[in-house]
Amino acid sequence: MQTEVFAGNPVLRGYWYAVARSSDIAPGPLAVTVLGDALVLWRTADGALVAAPDRCPHRDAPLSLGEVVEGGLQCPYHGWTFGASGACVRVPSAPPERAAPPTARLKTIHATERYGLAWVSLDAPVADIPPMACDGEVRFRRINTPVEVWRASAMRMADNFMDIAHVPWVHTGTFGRAQDTHVPPLTLEQLDDTFYGYRYTIEADNPDVATVASGSQAPLVTRWMTTGFALPFTIRSTIRYATGLEHVLLLLTTPMDDLRSYFTFVVWRNDDFSVPADEVVAFDRRIGLEDKTMLESIPGVLSLDVTVTPSVQADRPSLAWRRQFAALLQR
Ligand code: FES
Ligand code: CO
Repeated sequence: MQTEVFAGNPVLRGYWYAVARSSDIAPGPLAVTVLGDALVLWRTADGALVAAPDRCPHRDAPLSLGEVVEGGLQCPYHGWTFGASGACVRVPSAPPERAAPPTARLKTIHATERYGLAWVSLDAPVADIPPMACDGEVRFRRINTPVEVWRASAMRMADNFMDIAHVPWVHTGTFGRAQDTHVPPLTLEQLDDTFYGYRYTIEADNPDVATVASGSQAPLVTRWMTTGFALPFTIRSTIRYATGLEHVLLLLTTPMDDLRSYFTFVVWRNDDFSVPADEVVAFDRRIGLEDKTMLESIPGVLSLDVTVTPSVQADRPSLAWRRQFAALLQR
């Protein structure tokens, strides 16, 4: 089994990763792990998001066990306090006029907020957070969902989110029961400036639990869809129904380490905003749980070498992701 694909990977450290909802940090501190690095997130008094290694420069205590106080984040061990720049602003054991040693400094990392989420990049970001055309459009509303921990490799998750052949097998409790197991040839294309993937149409089951999401009472509904990826692990799936309803899903996977990942998804939808947000995403969350249950049963990481795992035509979309991902790691 391969190990340590992600930890310390210099290429992956230059991308943005979603780690929490903005509403989860109020004001913190919050501990998260990205690519094997333990991090702490908190908010300054004026609301700015700060991220840093979860380790006090004084004696290595986890700052996430401390407290956000006036002036910054206070360490639980000896009370040293670090401001938004990472500089130590208070050493309680020393007279106030004595400046903290210059090495008493937290090396903050890149942090920002978008789509209702907190994002971090461990090194200088090499790419922007994938743009979403519907974000900020008045006819769309945005719905956030909790950030979950999946005991699954981020590689297996991206592979799964690009995959269509598992739907009639894994998603029998939601929308996949009536679906044909045969997958027609799919053509991969650049969907726009950011996402690479495929367009397809499915006849989906529309059980009671799905009627809120589909906006229809019919037993079967046609979904015109696109699914595409932006490296390393972002997948966007768009669904359009005959009624003109559009449902856009941004599936965000963040490797905590090789075998654990954060998962959250964001929905944009041009409905009449009458159904409560929780009800709208309840169906998508059930679908996600079906994927999670399957993926958590599979040990280890997915091989980067596509020749190790046999594939068929239906696997072309996930293979395209894996090939591009493996090439990215070579850079
Ligand atoms: Fe943080 Fe001592 S370890 S103040
Ligand atoms: Co699935």
